[in-house]
Amino acid sequence: MNQSFSTFSSLSLFCLLFLVSFSSCQLDYKFYDNTCPNLLKIVRNGVWSAIANETRMAASILRLHFHDCFPNGCEGSVLLDDTSTFTGEKTATPNKDSVRGFEVIDAIKENVEKACPSTVSCADILTLAARESVYLTGGPYWPVPLGRRDGLTANKTAANELPSPFEPLKNITAKFISKGLDLKDVVVLSGAHTIGFAQCSTFKQRLFDFDGAGNPDPTLDASLLTNLRTVCPNQNDSDTNLASLDATTTNKFDNNYFKNLVNNSGLLQSDQALMGDNTTALFVMNYSKFPFLFSRDFGISMVKMGNIGVFTGQDGEIRKNCRIVN
Ligand code: HEM
Repeated sequence: MNQSFSTFSSLSLFCLLFLVSFSSCQLDYKFYDNTCPNLLKIVRNGVWSAIANETRMAASILRLHFHDCFPNGCEGSVLLDDTSTFTGEKTATPNKDSVRGFEVIDAIKENVEKACPSTVSCADILTLAARESVYLTGGPYWPVPLGRRDGLTANKTAANELPSPFEPLKNITAKFISKGLDLKDVVVLSGAHTIGFAQCSTFKQRLFDFDGAGNPDPTLDASLLTNLRTVCPNQNDSDTNLASLDATTTNKFDNNYFKNLVNNSGLLQSDQALMGDNTTALFVMNYSKFPFLFSRDFGISMVKMGNIGVFTGQDGEIRKNCRIVN
């Protein structure tokens, strides 16, 4: 009797603990409704004024969120500066002299701390700011589940594994799958390249000597090739010049990226590669024809990406300053 009672009580204790920890392991759309009711307003204002100052910032913040989520999960590690105990991710190859927007997140965090001190994680601020960046440039709006906590370290090695524009589609897809995403997510999320810019170094090899015999990439439209050769002349000092990822509507979040791919006008080799595979080409064609389909799927895939490796409950911390572990 005694034994069965103690078995019963330890079982129920286990269930209770399980329930408590399970429920706190979930992200929640209303997570800050009581603890930081003005959060959305603060983030939106911050993104809005950043975009008003420089339109490109929407693209930079969206990419920053992607570069946060892939390496160690969406836990704000990309925001951390180097310390004596770890090297941050900012100097990893895909990030160095490339990712931007840290000051915008700092400014938003400062305002969020004033309104609700030590309450909202940097990871959540970045996730919300990415959604706002899409919405404020004419793209879809989707509800963002919240309650992420900030990581205590960074992982430069993992950041070096972010997908590269020079990799074949199957490698990029494998990287997405290893994060719990799928082939459709590869296509949909690549649609983020409907806004923003790329440096010539990330696609120049397509323009001059793609095949080792002095010919350009045959999958690149001839008139786009001519334009790009003007932006990126065949000399090293053009490496940091910028070209639009979507030359038709650079600052507008729409489905023109997919229309470009259908017209052989993708900027990165990894973009145009989506037309080189039957399955991904079919997705591309559908998104080029049905903007609503792209809008809907983009929100769904962004929520999936935003859920990669999140810390919740008692894990991690709420950083006071996004650049430094407390
Ligand atoms: C599929 C694999 C991907 C590859 C290979 C890739 C590669 C790149 C490269 C090389 C650049 C230009 C960087 C520079 O020149 O400094 C870039 C820019 C950008 N990427 Fe991606 N990307 C990928 C996926 C994504 C995803 C999933 C997102 C977001 C959901 C994203 C959002 C962006 C944005 C918005 C820009 C422009 C940033 C700016 O103007 O500051 N990319 N990407």
